[in-house]
Amino acid sequence: MLTKKIENICNRQVEREAYSSNLYISMASWAENSGLNGIAGWLYAQAEEEHMHMLKFVKYINERGGKSIIPAVKKPDSEFKSVEDVFTKVLKHEEFVTASINEIVALTLEEKDFNTNNFLQWFVMEQIEEEASAKAILDKIRLVGKTNMYQFDRDILSLRAPQTNTTQTTA
Ligand SMILES: [Fe+2]
Ligand SMILES: [Fe+2]
Repeated sequence: MLTKKIENICNRQVEREAYSSNLYISMASWAENSGLNGIAGWLYAQAEEEHMHMLKFVKYINERGGKSIIPAVKKPDSEFKSVEDVFTKVLKHEEFVTASINEIVALTLEEKDFNTNNFLQWFVMEQIEEEASAKAILDKIRLVGKTNMYQFDRDILSLRAPQTNTTQTTA
């Protein structure tokens, strides 16, 4: 059984993962409308992963005797200055999510909730990957500059790491 504190902070994460998913759909939509279908494809795929993260939390909360609340999600930005602007924001957002996950981990230690702590370890690893891949893409964007965006857009999907854990709902 989850304590109320853990249930609440996990529900907060449901909202943050849902927002992540919508943010990346919004960025994908901007890219699609800018003729950047490769970048749009990368972001749509990322949005699906975030949706899967949200479901992992929903199912975990319910499985442990809590009640998962599906939140209203705030409206993400819809205008971006450039592809570099998009991925700068992706990295910044992932760093925010990492801090958010770490906060839950810290609370599980305080509350001696080792089951939730164990559940969160998948997310701890996932955040390392998410930050690394956003940073790698940002580095490449800065290398290629605006003039080579056509080629970068064509190649970006090959930078996605193969997903091995998309069907599993609890860690
Ligand atoms: Fe996530
Ligand atoms: Fe993420």
